[in-house]
Parts: sequence; structure tokens; C-alpha cells
Amino acid sequence: MIIMKVYVLITFLSVSNSKTNFMPNLPLGEYRIVFEKIYSCESTNVFQYNLYFSKKTFNITEMKGNITFLLPFDDTLTLDINGASWGSIGGWKPNSMVYITKNTCSNSKKLLGNAWYSLIKAFNGHITSCPFPAGTYITNGIDLKELDNLNMPKVYFYGKYKVTFKIRNEEKNVLGCFVIEMTLLRPWEKPT
Ligand SMILES: *[C@@H]1O[C@H](CO)[C@@H](O)[C@H](O)[C@H]1NC(C)=O
Ligand SMILES: *[C@@H]1O[C@H](CO)[C@@H](O)[C@H](O)[C@H]1NC(C)=O
Repeated sequence: MIIMKVYVLITFLSVSNSKTNFMPNLPLGEYRIVFEKIYSCESTNVFQYNLYFSKKTFNITEMKGNITFLLPFDDTLTLDINGASWGSIGGWKPNSMVYITKNTCSNSKKLLGNAWYSLIKAFNGHITSCPFPAGTYITNGIDLKELDNLNMPKVYFYGKYKVTFKIRNEEKNVLGCFVIEMTLLRPWEKPT
């Protein structure tokens, strides 16, 4: 059973081109995602993410806010995802997971899986495919449970992660940047 799970993980990694520093000291297994924070980071603000998590009831947390694109969000862009993991002795360890891809718009759709459609609906989009024109997109709230259905490996290392998403143009300038902090828990664990 364990061997099969590891095999699935390795298959995913080779398919998706991502690089992971194996963390043999961390247990791995099926997980659920607890999203903790989302905030923007330094960029030229061509793609502006004004998003936040907001607790609606004791068991529902929503993502709210708006995003503004000053240029079309399309496949000329490069997406650079870098995950830092929280070390056992404290401190963020960068490059725990690195994934860089061209064709940002199309590949975001692949990475997001079913969450792509939930996001488009939540931002009242009538555009359902790439590219997305420049403009402001607003959401009144999307249940974060709809976002954990990502096209990601079903098995991963448990722990706390800080994942930075950078959108670059061909000249490698960072046009947009946001960070998501999250914890991967065993399916039955409660957040602390
Ligand atoms: C959230 O809690 C309410 C009240 O206890 C319950 O009715 C509802 O089913 C819960 N929703 C989820 C998704 O767990
Ligand atoms: C977008 O979000 C920011 C930060 O919450 C807010 O100041 C701004 O008014 C919002 N813009 C629109 C168009 O809703």
C-alpha cells in the first residue's frame, strides 16, 4: 500500500516537472488542506490580488476580494510556484516544491482542476476559457472547501507551507505575486 502511494507521488512529480526536495523525516499520506492566509507580495502590480480569507461561520471560511488585471491573463506569461516548508526546528525552508511553467493561463486551469470552475463562477465570470481580458474581477465569497479539489498529488508530506505564486513576462519581470499559507493535515485531524 505504502509503496503504491509513493509510486503515485513519483509519477506525478515526473509528469508535472516539479522538483521536490524529499523530506524523509516528514510523514506523508493523504491529506486535507487548511488554508490559513493569502496576501500579495512585491511585483509591478500588473496583476493585482486583493484577496483575503474570512470566516463566515464556525465551519465555513470564504475567500473574498477582487483581482485586477491591467493586461490580459494569457499564455505569454510564466508561472513560478515556490513552496517553503516549515522546518521541524522552526524557520521557513524554501524550494521544498518548485514548479515553473509557461502558458500560465492554460496550465492554471490544469493545476486547479475542478477549483477552476468554482473560481470562475465565484468571480461572476462569463468568460470560461483563456485568455482573460484586462479588468477587475470581484467575488462576494467562495467557500474554501471548493478550492481543495485541486489537481495535485493526493499524497504529500504533512506540514505547514508558504507557497509563493509569481507571474512573469518574457523579460522575467514579476508582474503579479501572491502567497498562500496552508497546512496539510491528516484527513481526520482538526486545525490547532
Ligand atoms: C457546518 O455546521 C452546521 C451547523 O452545525 C452544519 O449544519 C453544517 O452541515 C456544517 N457544514 C459542513 C460543511 O460541515
Ligand atoms: C478591491 O479590494 C481592495 C482591498 O480590499 C479595496 O480597497 C478595493 O476597493 C477593492 N476594489 C473593488 C473594485 O472592489
